[in-house]
Amino acid sequence: RGVIVTIDGVAASGKSSVSGGVASALGIPYVSSGLLYRAATLLALEAGLDLHQTADLEAAVLQELARHTLVLEPLAAGNRVWEGQREITERLHSTRIDKGVSIIAVMPRVRAWVDDQLRALPAPFVAEGRDMGTAVFPEASAKFYLTASPRIRAERRAKERPEDIPAIEAALTRRDELDRAQIAPAPDALVIDTGPLDLQGVIDLILSKLAL
Ligand code: CDP
Repeated sequence: RGVIVTIDGVAASGKSSVSGGVASALGIPYVSSGLLYRAATLLALEAGLDLHQTADLEAAVLQELARHTLVLEPLAAGNRVWEGQREITERLHSTRIDKGVSIIAVMPRVRAWVDDQLRALPAPFVAEGRDMGTAVFPEASAKFYLTASPRIRAERRAKERPEDIPAIEAALTRRDELDRAQIAPAPDALVIDTGPLDLQGVIDLILSKLAL
């Protein structure tokens, strides 16, 4: 099996952009695990499931996952997600999905479904998410974990969402709270505070560690 590099971190810590940059520099694809959780959330919402009220929501979500074919296409230039012949990538970054995804992502059988899809992908690749270096690819060759203060992360995400910075910061903090079961860094991960660095600075730092 080829090389696997994992890049985990909290919400809006820059994982996707950093992973894309590192993967391009290495000439390999990156894999955004969060997109699969987001796609599962989209299917649940499109099926009309109420994420707060539905009795046995997990079984209902699993049923939706069984009824549809979701495929993650791990392109170096940006991951795409397909539901059958329909490309759904653009729909996965709405505030509505941001709000619901952590409810879906705590479900053990949804996590098992995502993990199976990821482990079936041919290495080499850069895997990006929350638990890539811990639960999914503990054998990875190199592991990184990105952090930044909630305010800095909210300022970055404000460029991609319509809400104002305080509202985004509150939503990010809430999501970190809901995600806390799966966001502990691997003991062998290098933790990088991205606050003082720009995107290229983080990419260069990771590449310098990989070159050693
Ligand atoms: O880019 P951002 O960090 O906002 O989101 P993402 O990486 O697309 O992840 C979206 C959500 O999926 C997270 O808030 C988690 O609830 C869940 N997730 C997870 O539980 N495990 C992963 N490996 C990746 C994402």
